[in-house]
Amino acid sequence: LFPWAQIRLPTAVAPVRYDLTLHPNLTSMTFRGSVTISLQALQATWNIVLHSTGHNISRVTFMTAVSSQEKEVDVLEYPLHEQIAIVAPETLLEGHNYTLKIEYSANISSSSYGFYGISYRDESNEKKYFAATQFEPLAARSAFPCFDEPAFKATFVIRIKRDEQYTALSNMPKKSSVVLEDGLVQDEFFESVKMSTYLVAFIVGEMKNLSQDVNGTLVSIYAVPEKIGQVHHALETTVKLLDFYQNYFEIQYPLKKLDLVAIPDFEAGAMENWGLLTFREETLLYDGNTSSVADRKLVTKIIAHELAHQWFGNLVTMQWWNDLWLNEGFATFMEYFSLEKIFGELSSYEDFLDARFKTMRKDALNSSHPISSSSVQSSEQIEEMFDSLSYFKGASLLLMLKTYLSEDIFQHAIILYLHNHSYTSTHSDDLWDSFNESTNKTLDVKKMMRTWSLQKGFPLVTVQRKGKQILVQQERFSLNVKPEIQPSDASSLWHIPLSYVTDGKNYSKHRSVSLLDKKSGVINLTEEVQWIKVNTDMTGYYIVHYADDNWEALIKQLKTNPYVLSDKDRANLINNIFELAGLGKVSLQRAFDLIDYLRNETYTAPISEALFQTELIYNLLDKLGHMDLASRLVNKVFKLLQSQIQQQTWTDEGTPSTRELRSVLLDFACTHSLENCSAAALKLFNDWMASNGTQSLPTDVMATVFKAGAKTEGGWSFLLSKYVSLGSEAEKNKILEALASSEDVRKLYWLMKKSLDGDLIRTQKLSFIIRTVARHFPGHLLAWDFVKENWSKLVQKFHLGSYTIQSIVAGSTHLFSTKAHLSEVQAFFENQSEATFQLRCVQEALEVIQLNMQWVEKNLKTLTYWL
Ligand code: BES
Ligand code: ZN
Repeated sequence: LFPWAQIRLPTAVAPVRYDLTLHPNLTSMTFRGSVTISLQALQATWNIVLHSTGHNISRVTFMTAVSSQEKEVDVLEYPLHEQIAIVAPETLLEGHNYTLKIEYSANISSSSYGFYGISYRDESNEKKYFAATQFEPLAARSAFPCFDEPAFKATFVIRIKRDEQYTALSNMPKKSSVVLEDGLVQDEFFESVKMSTYLVAFIVGEMKNLSQDVNGTLVSIYAVPEKIGQVHHALETTVKLLDFYQNYFEIQYPLKKLDLVAIPDFEAGAMENWGLLTFREETLLYDGNTSSVADRKLVTKIIAHELAHQWFGNLVTMQWWNDLWLNEGFATFMEYFSLEKIFGELSSYEDFLDARFKTMRKDALNSSHPISSSSVQSSEQIEEMFDSLSYFKGASLLLMLKTYLSEDIFQHAIILYLHNHSYTSTHSDDLWDSFNESTNKTLDVKKMMRTWSLQKGFPLVTVQRKGKQILVQQERFSLNVKPEIQPSDASSLWHIPLSYVTDGKNYSKHRSVSLLDKKSGVINLTEEVQWIKVNTDMTGYYIVHYADDNWEALIKQLKTNPYVLSDKDRANLINNIFELAGLGKVSLQRAFDLIDYLRNETYTAPISEALFQTELIYNLLDKLGHMDLASRLVNKVFKLLQSQIQQQTWTDEGTPSTRELRSVLLDFACTHSLENCSAAALKLFNDWMASNGTQSLPTDVMATVFKAGAKTEGGWSFLLSKYVSLGSEAEKNKILEALASSEDVRKLYWLMKKSLDGDLIRTQKLSFIIRTVARHFPGHLLAWDFVKENWSKLVQKFHLGSYTIQSIVAGSTHLFSTKAHLSEVQAFFENQSEATFQLRCVQEALEVIQLNMQWVEKNLKTLTYWL
């Protein structure tokens, strides 16, 4: 009988050191392993319970430190919990050390999770093999038996046997390399620092690298040999960021080397394994001829993110997955923060602002959850924590706190936190305690921040002017599908830092902050003002609604001189008014009245947000078959942006921000066949095709050009032939987007199928393809059909609850807005397992469809009349 019934491991025994030897066979896709675990008993016990799954265990021996005599012991297995138990031959005594040795064999995984193998074709079309690991969150246990929970930190010694043509990498630098009698080579790596199992990593493959020393740490970028020409940007970026973080955190990066590896097939975007960061090729490699400015930003951001994890996540780790935001929210916050500091010209604040808008849409749903959730147990629940709330709500709350406390106090607090908890693990409260300490308890940051981290959703702040007095009120911003079954959230209360700007004389100095910690409050101004704009630069995580007169005054200000407000504030007003229109708090007409000022807008953030909000409406109308209304809406928006669009050139000139604006505007114009955009794009495409793809194209508009070309049979086939043969992932992605934007459903189906097979098109691209297909009218039903038809394969490849599954479910359903579709989606998931139906992403999909229905019901008449 298995001696343990819980999902969480018992805490009587803790690992101290793992000694792991692996011998993978990349062609048979199997490996042999042997792990020796040094243990310490923290309490007296008979059993040792640890994780292991998919292992064929051949021998287990047990040793006490004193007798040093090996005894073979039995092992019990409990596959449901992926646990094994060893019944010790004698009682383990508190404080004593023991050793467990397990020999086993297993399959190398064929999904991109665990210790997995892939094959790819090199430039001379020769088949090559590659093996890598992705352990987070729960797959270290499939590579070797271990205590696979983040709080069980230990050190690791890793040895790998390989064929001589391969390079083997692991977290630590290589200590030795010996040739064995059978011609194999065994690499041994130095003993690691104390770390969690999910951060262990190793890679075997043919690779080249480019390296540079940074104060005693050797930084290297690795890629398959033919792509070594694309690693320069990553090396330069990493060197700068490493230096920045070491200074900012006042803690040296503790290892002698830092490798960043572009893996030919990788499910996530990237992974922060200590000392061995792994990436998709598209998120690490940069190609001067085909990477756009958006691609450059992506690579820079992802490196910044994974590097930040070396402190937030690796050095200090969340105790348990319910506090995943401590890892991901912090890494995301640092990603934008470091980019602002050292790559200011990239204007990454625009992306952060946009991410906050998107996150609040999700957090407004009833299916949302607090970032620090209380009950996270099952593997699905753990996987589900990897959602945009952990990442972006976490990051947004830190931004709000940094703005409230000042940059210095904020930095001081996180240095304190990192120092106090190095090589251990923490709860959210440990972080807030560090903040309290660094404000000398003048502020109760813990009390304040708990209102944000332990509640789902966010506040709607309503503002009214009464002379010099500003009355403010808070309530939960809630979209309320069925108000009757939701308890009125009368009890929710947040401690909100209220910042504001006004049109008052001392405008530039008139940026103030006060804390609203009650249902309502009053701000006293020194003078009467025309308007007030609350939540300056949208650094606060809340939406603001104003009384009529203030909305009118703000709209008037935008129309007379928008630049009195910052671009973030302008984008924020656009976002808030459209979200409020969705809630029925303001009329859609007023929202459109506000964006009328866009004729004079030149900044990227407000234009992108207006396009996002109006495209959302367009997409709903289009999918409902209201083509005429949809095109009238596009014409309205076009009138606003016409002069901006006409000024665009088909080049890569300008600052990153203006380049991204160009890309957005021309894509909008071409998608809706406005001006002579499509003709210009088609001309560029035809010239490019005539040169057999050798003529260079402007990178920022490349995807737009390809989309124009993909409309014809010949263009589509030519693009496909390039897709299969090209060596730049940046270019391939732009082609794939074009291929998946086709109107020919047979082609779309074929693409999805090929990507599911994973041969011609890698499976890592499937969720992107499904989302792209579902966005356009011809493919939106097809994408959903495909998901239904292949659901079991999808779950097998990407596992239930994973980020990829969340993205596929949302991507294939979020534009449905009819009762029939609602019933169909509901029935489909109900007929799967209970665990499937209970997935948060499924509940969210159902809620989103209901909200779409509600939106259409409420606004269709107004829209018909107004357009
Ligand atoms: N720790 C994650 C990788 C990860 C994601 C592991 C999901 C397990 C499940 C990594 O730090 C990460 O966040 N990667 C992001 C990229 C990042 C820049 C947002 C990703 O993979 O999308
Ligand atoms: Zn991360």
